[in-house]
Amino acid sequence: MDYKKYIMSVMDFPTTGINFRDITSLLEEGPVYQSAINELAAFAKSKNAEVVVGPEARGFVIGGPIAYSLGIGFVPVRKPGKLPREVETVSYEKEYGIDTLCIHKDSIKPGQRVIITDDLLATGGTIEATINLVKQLGGVVAGVVFLIELTGLKGSEILKDYDVLSLIKY
Ligand code: PRP
Ligand code: ADE
Repeated sequence: MDYKKYIMSVMDFPTTGINFRDITSLLEEGPVYQSAINELAAFAKSKNAEVVVGPEARGFVIGGPIAYSLGIGFVPVRKPGKLPREVETVSYEKEYGIDTLCIHKDSIKPGQRVIITDDLLATGGTIEATINLVKQLGGVVAGVVFLIELTGLKGSEILKDYDVLSLIKY
């Protein structure tokens, strides 16, 4: 399917110079959303995924349905102060300053095969932090999936050692 035609591009959002790739217009189209999830889920299944991990907030919209369709668990990665039990944390550099992400410490079993997902890969900071959290818990990264990959940024470089599927590339 030609998923790209369902993505709206918005110049200068949220700041000047950013060409924002808006997935909400794809999510609004039920059969298109379903088809994208089915493709990503088939990839996850082919990697024998046992659990799906995704960062808030847009990673939930992709990861949750993949987990549901495969009948496996979904583990959320969240900003500090959101998860109620003991967490593992990782800090990473964003364009301005440092950000931190957290995961429940007991959410992944050592050796478990994990599919990591988000809506979009840009610099790779978010997905690298998520991968590090999964590894800190002893999980095995079975694959990484996105709706959108912005090629040419260092994100794809960070993922060069992993099996990656992106449905749309810019
Ligand atoms: C966006 C997007 C990815 C991340 C990609 O999330 O959903 O998670 O940026 O950028 P990166 O590859 O440079 O890390 P954002 O931080 O805007 O949060 P949101 O999902 O809550 O909107
Ligand atoms: N997150 C980081 N860069 C983005 C972009 N260009 N469009 C949408 N989400 C993003």
